Amino acid sequence: MASVPNSDELIFFVNGRKVIEKNADPEVNLLYYLRKVLYLTGTKYSCGGGGCGACTVMVSRYNPKTKKIHHSPVTACLVPVCSLYGAAVTTVEGVGSIGTRIHPVQERLAKCHGTQCGFCSPGMVMSIYTLLRNHPQPTLEQITKALGGNLCRCTGYRPIVESGKHFCAESTVCGLKGSGKCCMDQEERSFVNRQEQMCTKLYNEDEFQPLDPSQEPIFPPELIRMAEDPNKRRLTFQGERTTWIAPVTLSDLLELKANFPEAPLIMGNTAVGPSIKFRDEFHPIFISPLGLPELYFVDYTDDGVTIGAGCSLAQLNDALHLTVLEQPREKTKTYRALLKHLRTLAGAQIRNMATLGGHVVSRPNFSDLNPILAAGNATINLISKDRQIPLNGHFLERSPEACLKSEEIVLSVYIPHSTQWHFVSGLRLAQRQENAFAIVNAGMSVKFEDGTDTIKDLKMFYGSVGPTVVSASQTCKQLIGRLWDDHMLSDACRWVLEEIHIPPAAEGGMVEYRRTLIISLLFKFYLKVRRGLNKMDPQKFSDIPERFMSALEDFPIKTPQGIQMFQCVDPYQSPQDPVGHPVMHQSAIKHATGEAVFSDDMPPIAQELFLAVTTSTRTHAKIISIDASEALALPGVVDVITAEDVPGDNNHRGEVFYAQNEVICVGQIVCTVAADTYAHAREAAKKVKITYEDVEPRIITIEQALKHNSFFSIEKKVEQGNVEEAFKYVDQIIEGEAHVEGQEHFYMETQTILVIPKQEDREMVLYLGTQFPSHVQEFVAVALNIPRSRIACHVKRTGGGFGGKVTKPAVLAAISAVAANKTGCPIRFILERGDDMLITAGRHPLLGKYKIGFMNNGVIKAADVEYYINGGCTPDESESVTEFIVLKSDNAYYIPNFRCRGRPCKTNLPSNTAFRGYGFPQAAVVVEAYITAVASHCNLSPEEVKEINMYKTINETTYKQTFNPEPLRRCWKECLEKSSFSARKLAAEEFNKKNYWKKRGLAVVPMKFTVGFPVAYYNQAAALVHIYLDGSVLVAHGGCEMGQGLHTKMMQVASRELNIPRSYIHLSETSTVTVPNASFTAASMGTDINGKAVQNACQILMARLQPIIRKNPKGRWEEWVAEAFEESISLSTTGYFKGYQTYMDWEKEKGDPYPYYVYGASCSEVEVDCLTGAHKLLRTDIFMDAAFSINPAVDIGQIEGAFVQGMGFYTIEELKYSPEGVLHSRSPDDYKIPTVTEIPEEFYVTLVHSRNPTAIYSSKGLGEAGMFLGSSVLFAIFDAVTAARKERGLTTTFTLNSPATPEFIRMTCVDQFTDMIPRDDPSTFTPWSIHVS
Ligand SMILES: Cc1cc2nc3c(=O)[nH]c(=O)nc-3n(C[C@H](O)[C@H](O)[C@H](O)COP(=O)(O)OP(=O)(O)OC[C@H]3O[C@@H](n4cnc5c(N)ncnc54)[C@H](O)[C@@H]3O)c2cc1C
Ligand code: FES
Ligand code: FES
Repeated sequence: MASVPNSDELIFFVNGRKVIEKNADPEVNLLYYLRKVLYLTGTKYSCGGGGCGACTVMVSRYNPKTKKIHHSPVTACLVPVCSLYGAAVTTVEGVGSIGTRIHPVQERLAKCHGTQCGFCSPGMVMSIYTLLRNHPQPTLEQITKALGGNLCRCTGYRPIVESGKHFCAESTVCGLKGSGKCCMDQEERSFVNRQEQMCTKLYNEDEFQPLDPSQEPIFPPELIRMAEDPNKRRLTFQGERTTWIAPVTLSDLLELKANFPEAPLIMGNTAVGPSIKFRDEFHPIFISPLGLPELYFVDYTDDGVTIGAGCSLAQLNDALHLTVLEQPREKTKTYRALLKHLRTLAGAQIRNMATLGGHVVSRPNFSDLNPILAAGNATINLISKDRQIPLNGHFLERSPEACLKSEEIVLSVYIPHSTQWHFVSGLRLAQRQENAFAIVNAGMSVKFEDGTDTIKDLKMFYGSVGPTVVSASQTCKQLIGRLWDDHMLSDACRWVLEEIHIPPAAEGGMVEYRRTLIISLLFKFYLKVRRGLNKMDPQKFSDIPERFMSALEDFPIKTPQGIQMFQCVDPYQSPQDPVGHPVMHQSAIKHATGEAVFSDDMPPIAQELFLAVTTSTRTHAKIISIDASEALALPGVVDVITAEDVPGDNNHRGEVFYAQNEVICVGQIVCTVAADTYAHAREAAKKVKITYEDVEPRIITIEQALKHNSFFSIEKKVEQGNVEEAFKYVDQIIEGEAHVEGQEHFYMETQTILVIPKQEDREMVLYLGTQFPSHVQEFVAVALNIPRSRIACHVKRTGGGFGGKVTKPAVLAAISAVAANKTGCPIRFILERGDDMLITAGRHPLLGKYKIGFMNNGVIKAADVEYYINGGCTPDESESVTEFIVLKSDNAYYIPNFRCRGRPCKTNLPSNTAFRGYGFPQAAVVVEAYITAVASHCNLSPEEVKEINMYKTINETTYKQTFNPEPLRRCWKECLEKSSFSARKLAAEEFNKKNYWKKRGLAVVPMKFTVGFPVAYYNQAAALVHIYLDGSVLVAHGGCEMGQGLHTKMMQVASRELNIPRSYIHLSETSTVTVPNASFTAASMGTDINGKAVQNACQILMARLQPIIRKNPKGRWEEWVAEAFEESISLSTTGYFKGYQTYMDWEKEKGDPYPYYVYGASCSEVEVDCLTGAHKLLRTDIFMDAAFSINPAVDIGQIEGAFVQGMGFYTIEELKYSPEGVLHSRSPDDYKIPTVTEIPEEFYVTLVHSRNPTAIYSSKGLGEAGMFLGSSVLFAIFDAVTAARKERGLTTTFTLNSPATPEFIRMTCVDQFTDMIPRDDPSTFTPWSIHVS
């Protein structure tokens, strides 16, 4: 931070150490300060907007009034460092470290296998740790609640929750629910089923250190003295561009507000912070009344509660909770409505930061609280002129006369008690249950004439239906005096739809859905009130029908539980041999302590520069000019780099580095700015002026690509039987389409690259997160026009990849290397989340068209299927993804006459790329969709049709590869049996009969999946193993660690092969220096191929040692090694695996493209809310053919993680593009991956044993297979929606698209409300977003 005169010293503590910052800059946030000033890199950057929890730390403050210390979890990315005066910050480093003592929270997270890539782990630790500081023996609910603001893209959350459960007072971890037994209580608890020797114990909880709260660090006494200092004075911090002023008295605050009327008050900074970061707001002055005692109070009076504006939403929650406990029910309706929404509003961190005053004043249009406060007649107490204003429609709609004056400050909010004949409710629907802005929410209240159901007063406020919260005041006025009956409801619905008009092109899209929600939520309120009236006077007011009862409540949030079963290790196996054991991830403890080093955690390098990008804003255009003069004139800017600066090729394999002459999508990199700080680079990048001239055509969707004949490659096809002929003899033929939208990888660590140019021979060293270092090396060499031997790429680990770091890092590395080459300085290039989502794209959207011929008994005789994927603007891997789709398009079914064709479309979207499953998760949904459609036409259940058509005996695929589906059959049968599918299906049907507005559905999907590539040389791998003279062993191989536990498994392999304990083996990194030309780590084959290479190296070394061992069989490893050295035997070797000899001959449509198949089945049960479209995943059972699992903890982790990622893909993850191809979804705020509340309430995973002699130790690659099993949730939703439609007399065959979002569910459950909404003529407007599949 630059030195500025007249600035006060900022004093706070970090991990018990005093920090005195003489040059505190108001624009710097705590995350930056921790990482870049204090070099505490355990706290991670992932989104920068409070939405992911990766940066969670604990902030503790002493309250001189109560003499208590408050510990709060906060997201450091939204905490201005200046706000920390007098606070104690604890980061993951302060909780525990390997060098000192690991904290029980860290230990349990690691040992319960709650970390994979480890990027989210410090945040998880801090959320649980802070909870324990406040509640050393938390309840289960508190654990789930504490984790709601933390995203994890790898694990599927189950093990993270489980690690927290161990701190709960209740015995909780056992999942053998209903059996009357607990696996943990039994003596031989590992053996659930002795016959099959199945284990459930993935870790040994006896090892856990106890939690001893007395061991926690004390709050710094100096901060207590500072807080109690009676002579506190105003503080001023002067930054480079801004000033921070912190008053200490109310009058001081008022004076400041009068002097600087435009300056925001910074309270939680959860509204101001994101506006500055994402909407480019600038404020020269900040006023920070944080800690001003007058703003923090709760006053309980006879008629209501007054809450200080400074109270956080978490404190508001506590105050309301207390009132609810103490007051009679009828008085607490507003409080209970608020509490319901406070439970799901953001995550625990934001609820602890955001204040009531900030919430009320910022009046976000999506506010969950303001509509209820308004409906509950709350008032705002202002100071300056000491007045009160009602928190009503005029205020929320920002009418100038109802707003705060610029010099006014909110002192408190008064929320009156409700009364006997007054009902208040809060209603909302969001894409996911917790930590998601509402799609529509509402606060409603009705007051009746005493003893009647005649409306005396009615209030309805809606959020997320326009630019502000909106009051339906006209409708309410018209309804006064009416009875609370169906006629009233019907008029109310009509009028409210007239009054609240969401224009067809409204921002946020989902227009018809939002219109439907307006009245669906009103109907829910109507039912709730009727029920309430009936409870008050059952004689006078009739109750709602029993079948409507379930419409009243939202889905409860429960703590997930489950069991994981796997094959026990042979009791005769050597105790030292770790193969088959659930060994903890090699870096797990380091993940949990924050000591695992990711690329951006590496300390600064002398003269390093930061890179920021300027990207295209046009879909397809000529670049007329690039004017960088303004950018170059800004402070700290060193250079602007464009295509002209690329010394080698700017276009390699069709991938363009810097746009040259033209842009072909929005988000293409046109130039980069190198500057001394990232902030300077980013500011300058915004100032680069590019002029364009649009070019036609602009192709966004698959449909448009088909129209323009725009493809990357020729059609790929496989065919068997005689399709045309077969269609002539079938009973029925159906034709249809299924659209599957794309998916964002959302790896927690965004793309990160550090390039260091060396002084000699134009060498360059790169540290980055990638799945394919040799590809990076290739691209950098080409861009710089130097031999690959001069480029060294190092990958220690990466914070999640999921396919998104196979090809993309190479392009980004080339771009950074060009910048490093031009400036001669090291370059640090970290994509912000928004840029990462925009530039790097994701899973291919897919269109499947099918024609299916079948008999009335469900036997499918013929299928003709076409697939098109949206490849985006460059080739990337689209052709190869298409080939995978075509080859895997039979999934688990034998169709004698089968033709499948596929083609990748070239469009003007950012280029889509590899993503876990590589096309299969999209394509196989189409298969399940037509199977389900056949079932519907034959009046059979989908499971019956699946059973009928499934591969049953040794068979050949369409491309003539022989396989034995026996494990598929086993997984399928076990899944049906052990999940009690039939009984539960009947129970669901019973439930559905009794409930009109909520429906349950079940589905089972089978899977035949493949690993590896049809290109033999892709499957080769190499390793390098050194034995040192102290006996320690260094293993290197070509695979990259991205959380999947590859290095852990490689250490298990080396340990077995060398017959030494794992502790002797070290695996440092992946590098092009140790293993050249390595294949990508993808296609589920990391362990297969690298394992064989490591095994080969170890076997070579053991062969060399054999003569020595034979001479001294009782000797120790160290002795043998020493002896070998003395006998001049080399203790280092490479190992090599030639790879599976796979191939595919597309001309002959014949091949042996995959080394083996992985089979599985999964059963899911959901409940959907037909009125809102929300769904709850009640239970999932997965049976996965793991053959022999080298590490069941890692494999189960992969299955669960992939399943949850798949479930997200098929349900709530939705990318929104404008019709011009601009990606709207660029942050966790508008792209929702599953959180802890989305995972199955009951989650059972079983590894099914089979044989696989092809792969190392008879294992199978399981990295991707779980992804498709997530579609059981999609089809369970489909089943539930079908039940709803059946009951409403609608056709049960309807198009099934993915994802089945709340919008899809609600709009497919057609009813009187969907019929009522106004529809727009599509030709009259341009929608805000479109589907691109
Ligand atoms: C990741 C994330 C998720 C979120 N999710 C939700 C959600 O699901 N539902 C929802 O409803 N909201 C959500 N929010 C919004 C959040 O509730 C608001 O941002 C928050 O309540 C604002 O409070 P604050 O203290 O942080 O305000 P600040 O950002 O500190 O201030 C906001 C504004 O209020 C003014 N102000 C603050 N206090 C006073 C006062 N006493 N007198 C006068 N003016 C004052 C300031 O001048 C400023 O203009 C989310 C926010 C984030 C970052
Ligand atoms: S980085 Fe702070 S919440 Fe995501
Ligand atoms: S382990 Fe949670 S994001 Fe990777």
